[in-house]
Amino acid sequence: MVFPLPKRILRPGFAGSASLRWLALAALLGSTAPALAQTKSAPQFGKATMKEVLAALTTEEKVQLVVGMGFYPAGFPEGLLPPGNPGDREVPEKVPGAAGRTHAIARLGIPSLTLSDGPAGVRIDAVRGKDSTRTYYATAFPVATLLASTWDTAMVHRVGVAFGSEVRDFGIDVLLAPGMNIHRNPLGGRNFEYYSEDPVVAGNMAAAFVNGIESNGVGTSIKHFALNNQEFNRMQLNSQINERALREIYLKGFQIAVKKSQPWTVMSSYNKINGTYTSESPDLLTSLLRQEWGFKGLVMTDWYGGKNAVAQLKAGNDLLEPGTAAQTQAILAGLKNGQLTPAQLDANVTRVLELVLKSPTFKGYKYSSQPALKANAAVARQAAAEGMVLLRNEAKTLPLAPGRKVAMFGNTAYELIAGGTGSGNVNRAYTISPAQGLSSAGYAVDAALSQAYAQHLRAEKAKLPKTRGLLDPAPVLAEMTAAAALMQQQAQQADVALVTLGRSAGEGGDRQEADDFTLSAAEQALLKQVATAFHAQGKKVVVVLNTGGVVEVASWRGQADAILLAWQPGQEGGNAIADVLSGKVNPSGKLATTFPMAYKDVPYSSEFPGKALASTGADNELMGRPSENSYQEGIYVGYRYYNTFKVKPAYEFGYGLSYTTFTYSPLKLSAPSLTGSITASLSVTNSGPVAGKEVAQLYVHAPAGALAKPESELKAFAKTQLLAPGQSQTLTFTLTAADLASYHTATEAWITDAGTYSVRIGASALAIKQAATFQVPKQVLVQQSRKLLAPQQAVPELSVK
Ligand code: BGC
Repeated sequence: MVFPLPKRILRPGFAGSASLRWLALAALLGSTAPALAQTKSAPQFGKATMKEVLAALTTEEKVQLVVGMGFYPAGFPEGLLPPGNPGDREVPEKVPGAAGRTHAIARLGIPSLTLSDGPAGVRIDAVRGKDSTRTYYATAFPVATLLASTWDTAMVHRVGVAFGSEVRDFGIDVLLAPGMNIHRNPLGGRNFEYYSEDPVVAGNMAAAFVNGIESNGVGTSIKHFALNNQEFNRMQLNSQINERALREIYLKGFQIAVKKSQPWTVMSSYNKINGTYTSESPDLLTSLLRQEWGFKGLVMTDWYGGKNAVAQLKAGNDLLEPGTAAQTQAILAGLKNGQLTPAQLDANVTRVLELVLKSPTFKGYKYSSQPALKANAAVARQAAAEGMVLLRNEAKTLPLAPGRKVAMFGNTAYELIAGGTGSGNVNRAYTISPAQGLSSAGYAVDAALSQAYAQHLRAEKAKLPKTRGLLDPAPVLAEMTAAAALMQQQAQQADVALVTLGRSAGEGGDRQEADDFTLSAAEQALLKQVATAFHAQGKKVVVVLNTGGVVEVASWRGQADAILLAWQPGQEGGNAIADVLSGKVNPSGKLATTFPMAYKDVPYSSEFPGKALASTGADNELMGRPSENSYQEGIYVGYRYYNTFKVKPAYEFGYGLSYTTFTYSPLKLSAPSLTGSITASLSVTNSGPVAGKEVAQLYVHAPAGALAKPESELKAFAKTQLLAPGQSQTLTFTLTAADLASYHTATEAWITDAGTYSVRIGASALAIKQAATFQVPKQVLVQQSRKLLAPQQAVPELSVK
């Protein structure tokens, strides 16, 4: 009798001992019986019922379905990654460079799915093997932090629609995005992949993005669920946090995204929360995500995340990516020793199969690998311009009059940083630099200076190592010190100076305070040199910040007449920068994350990113070492902290200038007290000289009941259409008790306290334009929950008194 085991097990050359172990386990489990019955009449997936398909799957096949198909990235050091399942490597990749796959069970008609990063564009290999006849570039859209700064969910939805068409056209089933962790600290290495310090912004942006992507019939994975707000030792990090902060700040955005977009999948994070890996936490993945929030889809691990495969499946983490041989063995052993029930495995498998059923691959979508790159680049450009934030504009330095002679300083003026590194990177066909963008917009970019920079960049790059690993941070090239004569000549000849300063960050590491959050000595020197020379000639200096995250601005901003925060704006960045500098697009972006005066002003900044504990001896470059951090600022994250504790930021949450001005009419509430819901409306008028858009933000100041409340919390926001001078638009916001509720740990419930609430509508968290109050006559129990994810020991927290 031949055991009808998967072919790969019998593959010649496969390590004997492991294959024998596999055979023995399979035989012991008695799981070969259904497989023996496999004949011509095997039920076909999609035609047969789920029950019939489950009955026809062997145990090994079920295990294959919940364990992904290995990960063999080009250039990754062999031996650093755990071995994948035998035979996986031989299955040709459908989309080279994609991040992961699921197993096919061909005899039942179950195809393999392809999963690909990432948040700013489809991350796949641009060139396939030795084939030089064609390329597979994807559009690099602006990073998530920029998208959030648009405060325009319709725009973010449009980006999602365009982006999702590339996911579909490249033959991918699930996009591993959006990232939506909270900007807890400006040094978070992946903040550029995330939206905001505020969960209402993050949740609504993620929902708009997911709905846009999924309108193409492909899936998303909202990630990293949850509390992956830093990169330091991320795979062995225990984050300790009290329940209120966890629910109100770090889980709330995910909850909003699930409610408003029901993504196909969720990706659990690498870290532990209060002692348990998120991927092994039934509290998080089952009680909260599925039972309390009503999530219907699949949960997958982050790549190699967590430790205990059986605990992961039991917790409701259905798919282990990218899949290792050790996980397969652990699951088979768990079934054998009773730690994992067949029913649990069936539940996980069912969710994998439900995902397959929805996928374009299963539906036989004929993908072209030729997405509409040109049309999508136009969307990327428009979104980029909409999310740039004008931080400073003294004496109407901007917009720049047409045809000006511009002296462009700074490496990234010539080599823009389109996005971050790691899995957030995108292999794009080109990146438009600010110099190219301005020159296409009709400005005279000084050629001698461009040449000096070209030479400088060549020399600096020659010093770099030839290859760079997936998780190695992008090298920072030293800024050029311009010769005094060159500077003098520039200040005399050019009409205006533009200094572009760039930052790069990415997965695998956090940023540093010195020379990253703050300007390096070379950058400071450059800025000073330019400002001195140009100001002496009565000429203006504009700084363009090309960064994915927050940088220190307070110490040097006085030297700049204008500052445009261009973020990492994607491949069309240079054109979008020119659109804003020229006034073709009136800036309407606002900060979704605070720019503090100094790093020390960030709550608990000295403790970030946590501390390493004793080594287990098994630490390696990839896994890091056991570490912990503690969320002692509690709910006082970002503006909730700065506003409540009266710490003045350099640029507050919600801040951003325009080339026009707006007035806000008095605020009208639909009723003096809350019954079900209450609406707030006012009209915004463009009171200035040019057309523009305004982002109005609704904050609530809640009465202190049993709990202290932050000074203000964002509850809703809206962006006007493009308003012509003199034109008005009425904005209406609806609030319900659920929007106003706080999490009361003592009773494990979301409660809206009774009392007087103040609604404040502003142009930023500090520029409040109109306010009104209403009553909540009686405490409202919004939702009763139960003790979940509790800390091992209460975390000592910052309090108002
Ligand atoms: C990252 C994820 C990514 C995955 C696949 C992990 O290292 O944390 O965000 O989706 O790799 O590339």
